[in-house]
Amino acid sequence: MSSRPAILIARNIFPEVVDKLRQHFEVDTNEADAPLTPAQLAERLQGKVGVLTTGSERVDAALLAACPQLKVVANIAVGYNNFDLPAITAAGVLASNTPDVLTETTADFGFALLMATARRLTESEHFLRAGQWNRWALDMFAGAEVNGSTLGILGMGRIGQAIARRGALGFNMNVIYHNRSRLNAATEAECKARYVDKAELLKSADHLILVLPYSAESHHAIGAAEIAQMKPTATLINIARGGIVDDAALAVALREKRIAAAGLDVFEGEPQVHPDLLTVPNIVLTPHIASATIATRKAMAHLAADNVIAFLTEGKTVTPLNPEVIGQG
Ligand code: DGY
Repeated sequence: MSSRPAILIARNIFPEVVDKLRQHFEVDTNEADAPLTPAQLAERLQGKVGVLTTGSERVDAALLAACPQLKVVANIAVGYNNFDLPAITAAGVLASNTPDVLTETTADFGFALLMATARRLTESEHFLRAGQWNRWALDMFAGAEVNGSTLGILGMGRIGQAIARRGALGFNMNVIYHNRSRLNAATEAECKARYVDKAELLKSADHLILVLPYSAESHHAIGAAEIAQMKPTATLINIARGGIVDDAALAVALREKRIAAAGLDVFEGEPQVHPDLLTVPNIVLTPHIASATIATRKAMAHLAADNVIAFLTEGKTVTPLNPEVIGQG
C-alpha cells in the first residue's frame, strides 16, 4: 500500500502530464473521458487530496463537504465559473486556474471567428458543398468589411487586450472597449483602444466580441435589449462563456436580421446548443475550442499539474486563485 498522496485527474489529459504527476502521487484517471456527475466526482475523490478539473466539473460546498480531505483543485482553464470560489476558500482548499498560457491562442481564435463570421465562410462553404454554386456573382456572399472597421470588445482582460492589438495593428481597426474597470492610460495606448460606456460600445461596434468572465452579473449581458442597440450590419462574437449571451434572443435576432451575423464558440447549457441557432444561416458555430491548439492545451494541462505538485509538495503555487489559503493548513 503506497503512502503517497492520491489525486484525481477528472478528464483525459496528455500522457506526459499524467507521467509527471505520477512522479509524485498515486494518480486516478478518467481515460474514458466521460464527464463525471457530481455524485461520481465525489465518489472518485474519496481519499484524494487533489484534483485537476475542467469546466465540466463543478466544485462547490456540497462537493467539498463530501470530500473533506481535499486540499487543492486545479482547473485546466482560465475561466473558473465552475468553481464556487468563496466556498472553496472557506473550506481552506487551494484553487488555481491557467491564465497567460492561452492568451494569444485564444485571441487568434477570436479573430478567426470574427473573420469567418463577417466574411460568411461557413455559410458559403455549405452552399458550395451542397452543389448550389453554378455561377459567380458580384454580390455573392458579400459580407462585412473587417479592415478599417470599428471593433468593440466587451471585457478587457489579457485576452481582450490581445484581440485589441490584433485589430489595431493588424487590421487598422478603430478599437473601442468596455470593462468593469478602465485600463490605465499606458495599456490603453499600447492596445490602441478607447474606453466607452456599454451603450456606446453596442451602438458603434461593427464587430462586437465578448471576452468577459461569466458571473451572475454578466448573465445575459447581451440579450434582446442589447442586440436592439447594435447596428443591423454588426457581427457578434462570443468566445467568453455560454450564458453571457441570451442564445434564444440571439436566434430570433439573427433570423429577423436585426444584426448581420454571429460567431459562437460557447453556449448556454453546452454541449447542448439552442436548436434555433442550428437552423439560422448567418451564424458560425464551433464547440468551445478557442484555446485548442495542441501546444496551448498541453501548456494548460502542465500548468494545472504544476500547481498541484507545487502546492502538495512544497506548499507553494504557480497561479493561485485564492492565495490566502496558503499556509493555513
Ligand atoms: C478557458 O480556459 O476558460 C477555456 O474556455 C477552456 O475552458
